[in-house]
Amino acid sequence: MPRIVRPAAYGTPDVLTVVEVPAPHPAPDGVVVEVRAAGVNPIDWKLYSGDFHAVDDDLKDSAGITASLPSLGLECAGVVTAVGADVTGVRVGDEVIVYPVTAAYADYVTAPATSVLAKPTGLGWAEAGSLMLTGTTAFHALHAAGVAAGDTVLVHGGAGGVGLMGVQLAAAAGATVIATASERNHALLRELGATPVVYGPGLGDRVRAAAPRGVDAAVDFAGTDEALDVSLELVADRTRIASITGSPRRAAAGIKLLGYGPGQDPGTEIRNAARAHLVERAASGALRVVVDTTFPLTEAAKAHEVGIAGHAPGKLVLIP
Ligand SMILES: NC(=O)c1ccc[n+]([C@@H]2O[C@H](COP(=O)([O-])OP(=O)(O)OC[C@H]3O[C@@H](n4cnc5c(N)ncnc54)[C@H](OP(=O)(O)O)[C@@H]3O)[C@@H](O)[C@H]2O)c1
Repeated sequence: MPRIVRPAAYGTPDVLTVVEVPAPHPAPDGVVVEVRAAGVNPIDWKLYSGDFHAVDDDLKDSAGITASLPSLGLECAGVVTAVGADVTGVRVGDEVIVYPVTAAYADYVTAPATSVLAKPTGLGWAEAGSLMLTGTTAFHALHAAGVAAGDTVLVHGGAGGVGLMGVQLAAAAGATVIATASERNHALLRELGATPVVYGPGLGDRVRAAAPRGVDAAVDFAGTDEALDVSLELVADRTRIASITGSPRRAAAGIKLLGYGPGQDPGTEIRNAARAHLVERAASGALRVVVDTTFPLTEAAKAHEVGIAGHAPGKLVLIP
């Protein structure tokens, strides 16, 4: 039977279970994809941590799982195994990237055909399965902060999944990129076109030294008070500071708030439009998907523990 990874309760990664489920069928406008790689993202563990929702629903579904618990896996790549009656342009056997999608921590996933993009042949499964969520988010953030050729942009959290995408996309757009990261990730960031600086006390001075002509825009992928404070200190125009993490201080600061929470801009159109651009750049080798570690599906909990520890340079990926 096909497997799916689901949380059995709200909590820490040890609540994750592998459940057997019937093989799915496509909706008339949808497809079924055999998953070859599913990207792991912080949203995955945040969803069942209980941080986002009051945990007060103990209804069980047919698998004995609390009904209100989220499914996991918001991006993947794989091979199309079934196509709905109304679908054109996608065929059984096609190698595809699927985004947006839900419940991709699984052997098989269903998705609307509009979520399917052809996987470039030269792109590995792990890279293809973990390109989209971080790539579209970084693209949206740079767009919101108005980053263009000639700008100097500060990227907070440059060595994370979103950060590594943001650094490359900003450099490709012709911006000068200053990126914050631990020392051990500096060589990688230099390779990708950024000037790295260590985060922590004194960050503002280090960025000033690295950007003597000043900083035009900042994208916050770190979510720390420091990232907000240094951005406000160095960027004169607050509409050119974009954050993908929420906090009451960020909401009060007059900066751009991006995402799916209250008061945040989901950027649906710009993120959708970014997908083809990202695939094209990844196919040509102009955009590198840095995969840190792959895990079998049964080790999703271990992948989440590594992610929660917070210092993986690049993507964690599940391989069913
Ligand atoms: N709003 C949205 O649409 C959206 C979308 C995607 C992600 N997010 C959120 O954005 C955040 C980043 O996502 P991600 O996928 O990039 O996470 P990630 O890959 O887990 O990020 C890990 C990186 O964070 C860096 N880091 C840790 N502490 C830091 C600090 N104090 N200052 C600067 N960098 C630090 C680490 O760099 P070092 O190893 O160099 O220390 C590590 O490489 C998460 O909170 C995520 O939930 C939001």
